[in-house]
Amino acid sequence: SVQGDPFRLRYHFMPASGWMNDPNGLIQYRGEYHLFYQHYPYGDKWGPMHWGHAKSKDLVRWEHLPVALAPSEFYDLGDKDGYGCWSGSAVESDGKLVLFYTGHVDGRKPTEAQCMAASEDGVRFEKFAGNPVIADVPDEGERFGFRDPKVWRHGDRWYMVVGSGKNGRGQALLYKSAGLTDWEYVGVAAESDGTQGDMWECPDLFPLGGKHVLALSPMNMEGTKNLYLVGEMDYERGVFTPEAQGKLDDGFDFYAAQTFLDDKGRRILIGWMDMWGSKMIAENRGWYGAMTLPRELKLLPDGTLASVPVEELDTLRGEELAYDELRLEDGRPRSWSRPAAMEWLAELDLGGTTAKELEIRLTGEPDEEDVTSIRYVFAERKLTVDRERSGMGDGGVSTSVLPPSAGDRIKLRLFADTSSIELFVNDGQRVVTNRIYPRTSSRSLVLEAVGGEVRFANLKLWSLGDGRD
Ligand code: FRU
Repeated sequence: SVQGDPFRLRYHFMPASGWMNDPNGLIQYRGEYHLFYQHYPYGDKWGPMHWGHAKSKDLVRWEHLPVALAPSEFYDLGDKDGYGCWSGSAVESDGKLVLFYTGHVDGRKPTEAQCMAASEDGVRFEKFAGNPVIADVPDEGERFGFRDPKVWRHGDRWYMVVGSGKNGRGQALLYKSAGLTDWEYVGVAAESDGTQGDMWECPDLFPLGGKHVLALSPMNMEGTKNLYLVGEMDYERGVFTPEAQGKLDDGFDFYAAQTFLDDKGRRILIGWMDMWGSKMIAENRGWYGAMTLPRELKLLPDGTLASVPVEELDTLRGEELAYDELRLEDGRPRSWSRPAAMEWLAELDLGGTTAKELEIRLTGEPDEEDVTSIRYVFAERKLTVDRERSGMGDGGVSTSVLPPSAGDRIKLRLFADTSSIELFVNDGQRVVTNRIYPRTSSRSLVLEAVGGEVRFANLKLWSLGDGRD
């Protein structure tokens, strides 16, 4: 059964069954967190898109709610969203929970138009009778995509960015509105510099730490599927000017991320913990897709972003194993058996470390089958995460370089679930998210120092959730 599948995650959000991709409509409404998502409830493959729906008081434990949006009629080309309710966002207005989504109809021109739906109770949604609210692309010429509206409020106006591409460059198109139903085109808020992809999916423009950030999912960009730009937003001219760029995540399974602001002032980021074009191991098993852990975004003094797991995740911690000070001698690995759902937190003491490398392995037993290997090369500050031999899923090795740090500590925080890992380095300065599909059920955590000694200032291991193994 779907529920008995060993690859089902223990503490990440997933629908009860069926297909899921992008997070949609993230919002805190009447004190509760709402998460919508691209969903096909009737199968484990992508299909006519619905909006699945769940809510939570703590971002960790989710309650499933009825499907919020369904295509009005499948494949009815005359209908405004006959083929599916594609990605979008949520706002609160006059006490209502209002959703913006892309109504997608293959065969119609334009294929994509922006639509609206609203709810008085946060559960049952009604589509706006005047849909679409934006019926067509704003200009002449061929556009590649016109979708994924993200709406927010600034001053006394609503703003929306829509993802698109023109002449081989990804673009974020900006609209404004006084009352959410009449949208005026402002212009191209930002576009690819020629290296940042030919179509921008799921653009999200938001203020953070005195700047604005544009987060997006670029198609056909060399080297990454997720990107952020930090810069200045000029609302008068409708132009966003980037000053710095980076990756939200260095791993292989982080896409279509969206953010929202909560009542604690946190800018929270959730991504789809999968990737188009990957092996999609859980397909044909009745389900597919998971969300990443929710992460709080922070703008650092050097103008880059960090993403830190939200503190509510600490409430998942079960049995704890703790060491203060641990020495790893050269070539003498130490190993611990570990639960499938776990968190590992360690601080490296660079002052006491003479090794060239530290290797952290998540393995099966007894033959070290299905190894996921994380290596840190001290001199180069280089981190690699290798899932070539992780199990049934895709391979790949990612490389991250840590920025030079003033202190003599490196903090590593690793969350593993049955079929995923998320590694946060130095409070989220670098993050690596990967799906892994180990075939073995017994698991170890192995630490090994190479070319000298590694000293840990402290080290902790928790089982997460119900502690099942
Ligand atoms: C991103 C995306 C969006 C689109 C949705 C369709 O993963 O391709 O651009 O709205 O998925 O499900």
